[in-house]
Amino acid sequence: MGSLGGRRMIVVGGSTGIGRGIADAWAAAGADVVVCSRHRPADAGHLSWERLDLTAPKHARERLAGLATGGVDVVCFSAVYYGEARAYFSKVAEGEWRRQLEVNVTGLWLTLGAFLPALREAGPGLFVGVSSEVAFNAGPGRSGYAASKAAAKVLLDSLGQEEDSVRVVQLLPAGMVDTPGIRRRRPADFDYSSYAQPSSFARVATELAVTAGDGQHGESLVVDANGDWGSTNARSAVSQSRALT
Ligand SMILES: NC(=O)c1ccc[n+]([C@@H]2O[C@H](COP(=O)([O-])OP(=O)(O)OC[C@H]3O[C@@H](n4cnc5c(N)ncnc54)[C@H](OP(=O)(O)O)[C@@H]3O)[C@@H](O)[C@H]2O)c1
Repeated sequence: MGSLGGRRMIVVGGSTGIGRGIADAWAAAGADVVVCSRHRPADAGHLSWERLDLTAPKHARERLAGLATGGVDVVCFSAVYYGEARAYFSKVAEGEWRRQLEVNVTGLWLTLGAFLPALREAGPGLFVGVSSEVAFNAGPGRSGYAASKAAAKVLLDSLGQEEDSVRVVQLLPAGMVDTPGIRRRRPADFDYSSYAQPSSFARVATELAVTAGDGQHGESLVVDANGDWGSTNARSAVSQSRALT
């Protein structure tokens, strides 16, 4: 049995990308991990999967409530709708803005509502939010994404100031991470050699889960490509926004 044996974890948005990196790390450490997403994850025999679409609130509420029964030790929220492409404000359709809020903010809100009671009982449970440097830096051509990630950050900051029996920690990559969500927005010949891999989150996610976030409650941790990390209390979240062509 690994360091997380006997623990039950949920990763909303855990089928691909950073959420998948975290889910894989927790499963490798012996946890029972359920990932939630619209599509079945590939090569995931070590994970359980629950279909979930955060843009269908009634269905999402029911699915999340079902998952919250039976005890949960740690929940991670990594689901995201980036938007079709970076674009100036006047070029973005209202539907895109609404979907960014629906997945990135309301999806987080629904997830918190469903799991907080179970996490309080875990005493202390841990909630891990996957954040972004845009919540600190904004950036041109990403107003909806930046606004939704800033709202998600402050929602979790505020919650962290309320909660005694659930620890709340946010993780954000120091640079860009090679994920399917990012690849959908890049040309086919794009060079990803400077990008981190989702597995760079394995070490910090495992340590947080083992300690239930002890000493890190309320913090945002910047995660480097080599897996090192540091709090935004001590280092800046550096902008990754390229010029918009
Ligand atoms: N990659 C980066 O460079 C980077 C940089 C800064 C911050 N981040 C943050 O990292 C987090 C993860 O991003 P990522 O790049 O790893 O994304 P990703 O590869 O696109 O993964 C997103 C996950 O969310 C799920 N998802 C999307 N829409 C959903 C919906 N409507 N209902 C339920 N699940 C849904 C996806 O599965 P389905 O499509 O199957 O539903 C997938 O599991 C986000 O919070 C993002 O802001 C990433």
